[in-house]
Amino acid sequence: MADADIGLIGLGTMGSALALNIAEKGFTVAVFNRTTAKTHAFVEEAGDLAARVVPCETLEALTAAVRGPRAVLLMVPAGAPVDDQIAALDPYLGVDDLIIDAGNANFRDTMRRMETLDRPFLGVGVSGGEDGARHGPAIMAGGDKAHWDRVEPILTAISAKFDGVPCAAHLGETGAGHFVKAVHNGIEYADMQLIAETYGLMRDGLGMAAADIAPAFAHWNEGRLSSYLIEISAAVAAAHDATTDGPLLDVIVDAAGQKGTGRWTAIEAQHLGTPIPVIEAAVAARNMSARRDLRAALADTFGGTERLQLGEDRLEAALTCGKVLCYTQGFDMLRAAARAFEWSLMREDVARNWRAGCIIRSAMLDDMAEAFEVAPGKTLMEAPHFADILSQTIGALREVVVTASAAGLPVPAMAAALGYFDTMRLERGTANMIQGQRDYFGLHGFQRLDSGESGQHGPWAEG
Ligand code: 6PG
Repeated sequence: MADADIGLIGLGTMGSALALNIAEKGFTVAVFNRTTAKTHAFVEEAGDLAARVVPCETLEALTAAVRGPRAVLLMVPAGAPVDDQIAALDPYLGVDDLIIDAGNANFRDTMRRMETLDRPFLGVGVSGGEDGARHGPAIMAGGDKAHWDRVEPILTAISAKFDGVPCAAHLGETGAGHFVKAVHNGIEYADMQLIAETYGLMRDGLGMAAADIAPAFAHWNEGRLSSYLIEISAAVAAAHDATTDGPLLDVIVDAAGQKGTGRWTAIEAQHLGTPIPVIEAAVAARNMSARRDLRAALADTFGGTERLQLGEDRLEAALTCGKVLCYTQGFDMLRAAARAFEWSLMREDVARNWRAGCIIRSAMLDDMAEAFEVAPGKTLMEAPHFADILSQTIGALREVVVTASAAGLPVPAMAAALGYFDTMRLERGTANMIQGQRDYFGLHGFQRLDSGESGQHGPWAEG
């Protein structure tokens, strides 16, 4: 009997957690997985919630189980598997049936699918890892608002709540949802990198053991840096390894993995011509971390690092400053994309959406939402609350970057944040030299500062 409220395809970690979340909120969910054994194992492990789960062995059975007009949520790996899944599902769907891709899709794929598919389609970013998917993720939807309205009750019910406000929203048209998720992940990379650099300074610059680093992060988590990523960094630093009877952190290989969403953010920022140097530095840092053999060889050639004289409070302030600058860049990128793709996307809605459930949730996001609301069109650097924070902390960021660099300790994301700050507050920049050079070798022309005239050339043009 077709009485399920929604169908869900793909019972991997995130898909299983979302399906249980949906059932827990009182909806009936029909589930399908390519490997049937996984579908049955899922239902067996669902406990009481199994009563609201309809296991399906075929796509035909899945579509037959869902009430029309249907909504089917895809939780399959991004890229070709999504296209393959859509092609396999399509013959069983009616013209009004809605497909929701809730994986980490590249927003350009989402836009292509919306253009080429002859049916309702939503691209939805879901953040929060397995725990978030199970108990309340942040949900960032893109596509037609009317299509969102059809599934809004379910997706709102399963989402995280901040002071009772659901972290689930329609954020814009076409690929806006997956674009916002990509920027979320770019910020996630940058936030993680800034924290990792701070950890590195405590470990190598201050000679602190993991057991001493953990309480520092835990303490910062009680202040303005309060966030999920700082909280878990404290937990990671505190974790014990039974094999070595020492800190777990000390036995984890120092090469970061990545599935690609942070890289997409860097690529799209280049397409949009919007500066996100902290995020780019974080992506590059992951790539550098992977070159372990080369790093070991170069350590032999070029020698080691020195100790630092730096208070922990200066590190906290530098981290705060870097974080505000990184978010400034991420939100600027969202504004640039909204203009370029003509999305109705509002930064305050995104900031509100990220306040709970997602990986980058933090106390600061509530203030960011307010800043965008009271000063539309302004960057975070211009918003009084964040301008104050920057004024109070930029000295610490400068001190940390300078002393770390002098000691040979790498802080690429912090240095990128400082470079961005200094560039953006320098009224008379240095690109006049670049314009002169361009005109010299290519007669590209420049604009005069005094008269405002464009298309001007230097004396080299006369010969
Ligand atoms: C989230 C995360 C998640 C991401 C993983 C791994 O918001 O829940 O962003 O979607 O896929 O954190 O990402 P990387 O493998 O690229 O680090």
